[in-house]
Amino acid sequence: MEFKRINGLPPYVFAQVDSLKLAARRAGEDVIDLGFGNPDIPSPDIAVEKLCEAARNPRNHRYSSSRGLPNLRQAVADLYKRNFNVTLDPDTQIVSTIGAKEGLSHLMWVLVGPGDTALVPSPSYPIHIYAPLFAGADIRTVRLEGLGSDEVDAGEAFFANLMEAWESAFPKPRVVILSFPHNPTTACIDIGTMTRIVEFAREHDVVLVHDFAYSDTYFDGYRPPSILEVPGADEVAVELYTLTKSFSMAGWRVAFMVGNAEVVAALTKLKSYLDYGTFQPIQIAATVAMNEASDYPLEVNEIYRSRRDALCEGLNRIGWEVDKPKGTMFVWSRIPEAYKEMGSLEFSKFLVAEAKVATAPGVGFGNGGEGFVRFALIENEQRIAQGVRLIKRALPKLG
Ligand SMILES: Cc1ncc(COP(=O)(O)O)c(C=O)c1O
Repeated sequence: MEFKRINGLPPYVFAQVDSLKLAARRAGEDVIDLGFGNPDIPSPDIAVEKLCEAARNPRNHRYSSSRGLPNLRQAVADLYKRNFNVTLDPDTQIVSTIGAKEGLSHLMWVLVGPGDTALVPSPSYPIHIYAPLFAGADIRTVRLEGLGSDEVDAGEAFFANLMEAWESAFPKPRVVILSFPHNPTTACIDIGTMTRIVEFAREHDVVLVHDFAYSDTYFDGYRPPSILEVPGADEVAVELYTLTKSFSMAGWRVAFMVGNAEVVAALTKLKSYLDYGTFQPIQIAATVAMNEASDYPLEVNEIYRSRRDALCEGLNRIGWEVDKPKGTMFVWSRIPEAYKEMGSLEFSKFLVAEAKVATAPGVGFGNGGEGFVRFALIENEQRIAQGVRLIKRALPKLG
């Protein structure tokens, strides 16, 4: 059978590491799982309680609104005002999506099609690469690996790379996908760089799509900017804000696309043909989470920060040099010199087999990720410390 959109997809490399992990677990082994970015921290109690209560009301069992209930959109507007001092009109500048991933995928359907190009960072969270491709467009890439952990320098380097990619791209991209703090590289940028990117987009008539999945996951005094903090950004930019990481609500599938009213209207229209919105009790509980558990992201953050410290300090102690990221729930690292010949996929498989530690191979995020591995901070500090000891034993050539 012919499956045109699917046949050309490369094998999902994460699945290879995952199947080794599952096989080891089936054989009774304990695998420390730092592979998939699937948060283990519970969602706020208040949201869970509201969900149960709302689910008991039959009025909430009907189709809901695909753009999101008015109170839900108002809660997002309030959150943006509180957190970023950004004013959004809940009626024209906010649409609810079934997670950032669904939002981004369908957004590409309205923004690009065959003959168009989108500029995408490399390496990238996979849907940033595949969403434009599914919409029939081509991608051009902007180099993002190895930008360093200082957000000012990383911003300078990223902007220079963006200009270089723009100059050489043909046809000129209609869309630029951005995402800072960045998965997998953990690169962070400051508002100065955001401002330069917005100015560039206004000059060249490009739509900026900022996936802000790690809006609330930051450390050491750094605070990631919303692209909409840049004055005039809503003329050219939209942003995806998700409760997945901020409120540790991954399975609930609640996110929003906010910003430019024309783009919001276009996605709202497309979605009105495709879905009836998230289950209404989920929308009600998500509203309560944003309104009444607004400090929860800070608690979640503190957990990731102590795990980050345990992992980075542990790896540095055993001779594997890593930088502490200022944002995201990941640590991104070059494969140690003595093992780099293996390539990232073989190295990740080796770590599962020999250390019983699962990581994500860099190449899974596109060719720009080759030579790196990503650790997700989804195990507690004791398990992370145990993982470091097992890695030390499996990699005798470290240090
Ligand atoms: C950059 C980025 N965007 C989006 C997502 C997924 O967000 P959601 O659960 O809202 O689809 C992730 C999750 O890992 C991510 O890293």
